[in-house]
Amino acid sequence: MVALQSITDEIAELKKSRRAVILAHHYQDREIQELADAVGDSLELARQAREFSGELIAFCGVWFMAETAKVLNPDRVVIVPDRQAGCSLVDSCPVDQLRAWRAANPDYTVVSYINTSVEVKAESDILCTSRNAVKVVNSIPADKPVLFLPDINLGNYVREQSGRANMKIWQGACIVHATFAARKLSAARSEHPSALVAAHPECPKDVLRMADFIGSTSAIVDWCATQDGGEFIVMTESGVRYSLEKMSPRKKFHFIANEQCNCSECPHMKRNTLEKLRDALLHLRPRVELAPDLMERARRPIERMLAIR
Ligand code: 13P
Ligand code: SF4
Repeated sequence: MVALQSITDEIAELKKSRRAVILAHHYQDREIQELADAVGDSLELARQAREFSGELIAFCGVWFMAETAKVLNPDRVVIVPDRQAGCSLVDSCPVDQLRAWRAANPDYTVVSYINTSVEVKAESDILCTSRNAVKVVNSIPADKPVLFLPDINLGNYVREQSGRANMKIWQGACIVHATFAARKLSAARSEHPSALVAAHPECPKDVLRMADFIGSTSAIVDWCATQDGGEFIVMTESGVRYSLEKMSPRKKFHFIANEQCNCSECPHMKRNTLEKLRDALLHLRPRVELAPDLMERARRPIERMLAIR
């Protein structure tokens, strides 16, 4: 306990002396979220990364989120606790494959989920997050064919919601959400018959079909807070429990183990620790460093997305 207190004190001091802001995703451990200036989903954190005063961003999430913050803040230093905190969706869409696809399909508008590398963003027409994906796709003229990448489950959900037939979908998946099994959700519903089900759209179709609500991490937190019901089965990464219980202290939340790790944790998000955050603030490393022209090309599709309210 003493060690934890001293490390949080160190982080608080470094944060002040570095004029830093700490941004944390909902999937971070409780102690990181407690220290953060802002906690949110990908869209909220991208907006937060633009709207703060200070010189340094310590991004507690995964690498693509920190890259996005850097693209929006080319003159600020952006650091992360662990450079290896990646994302299976990013890995599923290498930029050379996208370039080849574009060359063969020049008429398509490329809509990329924010869970992509900065290089893929630079090759995209517009970005989206789980919160605004349907809105973004609906903003594209109906006669324009769309490539949605890289998440197959979010893509299928968007196609269904938008009713868009001229939409191709990349075949990427999230190792955490895509491995939630419908049969385990059914079993959990039998065990907790009065619970409502909230799911992230990266979950498979048969899981989403059983959900009372589908939305981004923050949308799930907000929705659970506004429901009369007192019990929920939450089909996303279990780090979100901290925000759920903070917003709804008297409600009960159940998480389901997936087939990947028999847990509901993202191994990338969980690489970040308080010690690594302290060291990053101390040494200003690992740091996001990107070529100016790459950032400029990636900024356009991000700004196009941010302009959609
Ligand atoms: P959100 O935008 O909903 O926070 O999702 C990010 C993510 O990585 C989900 O796995
Ligand atoms: Fe990527 Fe899935 Fe982890 Fe989100 S939960 S960061 S989509 S691997």
